[in-house]
Amino acid sequence: RFPAPEAQTLLDWYDRHARALPWRVPPEARQRGVVPDPYRVWLSEIMLQQTTVAAVKAYFEAFTQKWPDVNALAAADEADVMKAWAGLGYYSRARNLKACADTVARDHAGKFPDTEEGLVALPGIGPYTAAAIAAIAFDRPATVVDGNVERVISRIHALETPLPQAKPDIRALTAAITPETRPGDFAQAMMDLGATLCSPKRPACSLCPWQAPCRAQAAGTSETFPRKAPK
Ligand code: ADE
Repeated sequence: RFPAPEAQTLLDWYDRHARALPWRVPPEARQRGVVPDPYRVWLSEIMLQQTTVAAVKAYFEAFTQKWPDVNALAAADEADVMKAWAGLGYYSRARNLKACADTVARDHAGKFPDTEEGLVALPGIGPYTAAAIAAIAFDRPATVVDGNVERVISRIHALETPLPQAKPDIRALTAAITPETRPGDFAQAMMDLGATLCSPKRPACSLCPWQAPCRAQAAGTSETFPRKAPK
């Protein structure tokens, strides 16, 4: 009764409905061979760690105007970087951002490492951010799980285990459907699905590319997932 959730179905949806975001290579350009700039992917992922897409956009534009590549950011004064970050909050991110730029410029000839292992060794890059950059910038089939992905996966499988206990299962289920082709677009498509149709409240299940495999939508209980452990 429930087909497996197919990456290709989600990628087809992403090709039509990807959000246009300043750090993104749109799927049609990606398929013409335009490659993402790891510096822009990294900068956006650091900014998005604790801040919404809407709030990040203007800061991302300002930073990339001022410092168009990692060597420019490494050459900047830390005080200027802190000033440009003002308003985004979580200022340790800005200090780590500068330390990371310095390290990439000095120790890696201005090139970001292209593996999760290489990326996670850099200041300010944890396992989630390393996976996101590896997938989006380098098309590595990394498992990228954020809050949006947790919601999508817990609904598809109608997972009764509450968060945070369900996290290992959600990782495994996400890894199992992550494709070898276009893993970066797949990761971004999961984020977009969670941020748009598969919203916390009143999800738009009738428009969802994964309506058929979704157990929660079949039961009419989408909004009740993910289950949360009582605090
Ligand atoms: N949140 C974190 N990374 C993101 C990305 N690349 N696109 C949209 N939302 C995100």
